[in-house]
Amino acid sequence: MGEFIDPAIVPKMKVNTGEEIPGIGMGTFGSDRVSPEEVSNAVAGAIRCGYRMFDCAACYGNEDQIGKVFKDAFDEGVVERKELYIMTKVWNDMHRRVEESCRKSIADLQCDYIDMFFIHWPFPNYHAPGCDVDSRNPDSKPFSVEEFMDTYRQCESLVEKGLIRHIGISNMTIPKLDAVLPLMKIKPVACEIELHPCMQQKELFDYLVAHDIQVVGYMPLGSPQRPERDIMPEDVADMELPEMKEIAAAHNCHPALVCLKWSHQLGAIPIPFSVREKNYVSNLKSLTEDPLTDEEMAKIATLERNNRLVKGHVFLWPGAKDWHDLWDEDGKIVTVDNGNYSAFRLNHIKKRRNFFCYID
Ligand SMILES: NC(=O)c1ccc[n+]([C@@H]2O[C@H](COP(=O)([O-])OP(=O)(O)OC[C@H]3O[C@@H](n4cnc5c(N)ncnc54)[C@H](OP(=O)(O)O)[C@@H]3O)[C@@H](O)[C@H]2O)c1
Repeated sequence: MGEFIDPAIVPKMKVNTGEEIPGIGMGTFGSDRVSPEEVSNAVAGAIRCGYRMFDCAACYGNEDQIGKVFKDAFDEGVVERKELYIMTKVWNDMHRRVEESCRKSIADLQCDYIDMFFIHWPFPNYHAPGCDVDSRNPDSKPFSVEEFMDTYRQCESLVEKGLIRHIGISNMTIPKLDAVLPLMKIKPVACEIELHPCMQQKELFDYLVAHDIQVVGYMPLGSPQRPERDIMPEDVADMELPEMKEIAAAHNCHPALVCLKWSHQLGAIPIPFSVREKNYVSNLKSLTEDPLTDEEMAKIATLERNNRLVKGHVFLWPGAKDWHDLWDEDGKIVTVDNGNYSAFRLNHIKKRRNFFCYID
């Protein structure tokens, strides 16, 4: 076993229920490159090194392996269930069957209940594993307030049934939040957004803070091993930027740890992924020592490139222009143009056999 970081010294974040939850978690998405066993081995090691939060998802295809690791840790007395903060997400093909998805995640993860249950994407647009960037599902639809709220209401009923403690949302935009927040009976505790130095999403971040919704920052290191479909020639490698290397040198650490300190000092909960013990231990430890200075935080603020890595091409619906439509960049929810919809649908029904693919 590697170094043990006492969870008591790892910073916590106070959320809108008044509870304090871990200030850093471990991601568990193997990016189509790392096997479920490698991920679950890392989770086993991470629990023993002091991690107390794990970011899982039904669509990562590894919840049953991770569940065995949780059960072993409980059986061996390494940790009690109530000491862990377990997060998972309902995948897009289960928006009409949220309880079934939740019960399956609880059974696979062998954890009795979920601490934070996210709606992974605000669309019911399904893609199976292993797709490329050009894959499209002709049944995909644009965002609908009614459909989203139907999914959200099911989550609210899971809270009432004691299956989940907190509700989370993910991959949302300000116009979508404006439309749905007033309709909710139970406020979401957190929102997962892409957050790394070259994708700072300041407006959305500030909106979430103003609404007392905790930001959980995904791809905090700029996800250097992300799936092929999420790699574009114009993407910037956050950890390779000279400014990041310079700050890392000043702290005698890897730029990865600068990314995590930055995310934490902004007020987010970063959820870095790693299968290497040396890396996941240093990631956890980075929040317990040697913070960045105000000058370093200001320098990183200048690195914003609006470099979205998860563009979401494979969620596009018939009639959508391009991936920008997913993100409501003009400040209003992008819906469908009916004429384009029919043309797109006809075209893509022909390609239907190829449409299954999968996303983060
Ligand atoms: N809500 C959503 O839609 C959504 C979307 C994407 C991701 N997520 C969540 O966010 C998590 C994190 O995102 P991610 O896994 O894509 O990317 P990430 O955490 O930004 O980057 C992970 C990569 O960084 C490397 N790494 C980790 N620690 C390091 C260190 N200390 N020094 C050097 N390299 C290091 C890892 O390699 P090694 O394994 O070799 O260390 C791995 O290749 C996911 O696992 C998932 O749980 C959620």
